[in-house]
Amino acid sequence: MNILIINGPNLNLLGEREPGYYGSDTLASINAGLEEEAKKLGATLEFYQSNHEGAIIDRLHAARKNANGNIDAIVLNAGAYTHYSYAIRDAIAAIKLPVVEVHLSNIHARDAFRETSVIAPVCVGQISGFGSYSYTLGLYAAVNAVNKTAK
Ligand code: DQA
Repeated sequence: MNILIINGPNLNLLGEREPGYYGSDTLASINAGLEEEAKKLGATLEFYQSNHEGAIIDRLHAARKNANGNIDAIVLNAGAYTHYSYAIRDAIAAIKLPVVEVHLSNIHARDAFRETSVIAPVCVGQISGFGSYSYTLGLYAAVNAVNKTAK
């Protein structure tokens, strides 16, 4: 099973960016932790980060079976695009792969504009507020979603 982890804008700055909200782990250390979890689950991981909406959409498209993407599910932290990118929402709906939405912070306990996720309706579910552990939970949820579809 091959899981793609996608991180959107500003998440390359994890570790130095607003640690009160996002913690002190870097994206590299979060990804290293996910590699360890993936071994336990018998899954392989691919990682992608971009600050650009269109690049994230292109990566989502490339993941789909029709593009021989070799990806079974996706864990996505779309950053601020979560709250307003109908284009990313439509890309998720188009690719027919299970996508798990994750956030380090609790998006329901911050600014009003963060409470809305326009991608949530096309994702399997949303994990929000557990810091870097949100990604671990997201990985488990993605593996579970693939196993459920395989049955
Ligand atoms: C975030 C929450 C978003 O509101 C914010 O724009 C981010 C990070 C999170 O992981 O908590 O960039 O997705």
